Amino acid sequence: MLPLAMLGHSRIWGQTNRDINCPYRNNLYKRIFMSKKHISILVGSLRAGSFNRQFAEAAIQVAPDGLEMEIVEIGDLPLFNEDLDQGNPPTEWVRLRERIKNSDGFLFFTPEYNRSVPAVLKNAIDVASRPYGQNAWAGKPGAVVSVSISSLGAFGASHHLRQSMVFLDVPMMQQPEAYIGDAHELFDKEGNLQQDSKDFLRTFLDAYTAWVNTF
Ligand code: FNR
Repeated sequence: MLPLAMLGHSRIWGQTNRDINCPYRNNLYKRIFMSKKHISILVGSLRAGSFNRQFAEAAIQVAPDGLEMEIVEIGDLPLFNEDLDQGNPPTEWVRLRERIKNSDGFLFFTPEYNRSVPAVLKNAIDVASRPYGQNAWAGKPGAVVSVSISSLGAFGASHHLRQSMVFLDVPMMQQPEAYIGDAHELFDKEGNLQQDSKDFLRTFLDAYTAWVNTF
C-alpha cells in the first residue's frame, strides 16, 4: 500500500487524498451546539515502555478542546469466557462495559502481533461486546492509530481491528489513516515524542473531532 501523501513526518503515513472534513458536517445545529466528547482510549500493549502508550499519552496532551480523552486500562481483565457471564460476571468486565457504554467514542492505539491485534486488546473488545444483545460499543465513532517499530506501521493490526469494530457497529474514521512505522526513531534524546509526530497527532485528532461530531 502506498501513501498518496505524507503528513508531518516521513515515517507517518496519513492518506489525504480527499478533504478530511466529513460530508455530514454541514449540519448547522450540530456545528453550533457541539459539546465536549468523552473519548475512551484503548492501548493494545501492556509493556512499560510501550510506544503505543507513549503515542496515546501524547495524543491526550495535544487533544483539541472538543475532546476529553482518557486511557481505559485493560490489562487486568480476565480472559473472556461465556461461562463466567451467567448472572455474576467479573467486576473488571462490568467496569469496562460501563466505561465503554458511557463513552462518546473510542480511540485505539495498537501494535501488531503476528500480523494481527494483540490478545489483550481483542479480549477487551470481546468482553465489552457481550452478553449477547448488549454490545457496549454499538453506534459510537472510533478511530485507530497503529504504531510499530517496523516500517509497515502495523497495517495488518489496524485492519484486523477495523474488521471487528465494523462488525460491532462502530463507524471507524476512514481518513486520514495513521500507520506509524519505525516508532523507536520518533523520540528525541530525552525520550520525548518529536514535535512533527505531535503535529501529526493533532491533525489526526482534528479530523476525529469532526467525525465524532457527526454522530
Ligand atoms: C511483534 N512485533 C511485530 N511488529 C510488526 O510490525 N508486525 C508483527 O506482526 C509483529 N509481531 C510481533 C509479535 C509479538 C508477540 C511481539 C512481542 C512483537 C513487534 C512490535 O511491533 C513491537 O514490539 C512494538 O514496539 C510493540 O508495541 P509497543 O509495546 O511498543 O507499544
